[in-house]
Amino acid sequence: MTIRVAILVSGGGSNMVSLAESMVGDHPGRPCLVLSNNADAGGLARAAAMGIPTAVVDHRPYKGDRPAFEAALQDEILKHSPDVICLAGFMRVLTEGFTSQWDGRMLNIHPSLLPKYRGLHTHARAIEAGETEAGCTVHLVTPRLDDGPILGQRRVPILPSDTPETLAARVLTEEHILYPECLRAFCGSVQPRL
Ligand code: GRF
Repeated sequence: MTIRVAILVSGGGSNMVSLAESMVGDHPGRPCLVLSNNADAGGLARAAAMGIPTAVVDHRPYKGDRPAFEAALQDEILKHSPDVICLAGFMRVLTEGFTSQWDGRMLNIHPSLLPKYRGLHTHARAIEAGETEAGCTVHLVTPRLDDGPILGQRRVPILPSDTPETLAARVLTEEHILYPECLRAFCGSVQPRL
């Protein structure tokens, strides 16, 4: 039984690569699609180079009509019959109309120790607040932004010399370990969508 995994990206796709590279051998999952809202996303080229089907649903023609964008997104995704969706740096807010269709089947990685620092600029905010540690969280996606049951976290220290960039790099290294670990466990527990 193979669990088909669609990965949604907006940028460089380093998490997508770590997920795709992990889905080999006795891993229950296999990548079936890498989709982006941005035709220029580096992640698309990297997926194509790995032989993974790619697709683009540009959000810009749907400006002001999020339900129409999400309907187009859903149509494109369903063409590839995924059982699980991984958001991996997908920079569009998804409403309940979309998330409810993937309830219990959609994962996200967020670069903070949730529930702290939902939203953007997590590293700058953590440094600014004087935190001594940061990290990343994989969670199930619910209609509330960066919320939902936590599947795993990894922590890193914040050093006195850190900038948002140096901290982001340290956290990203942990993201590349955490997300594949969580996806593997998740694929082992989920049934195909049919
Ligand atoms: C990661 O830090 C992820 O946690 C956040 O966006 C970034 C995506 O990086 N949501 P990449 O495209 O996977 O390299």
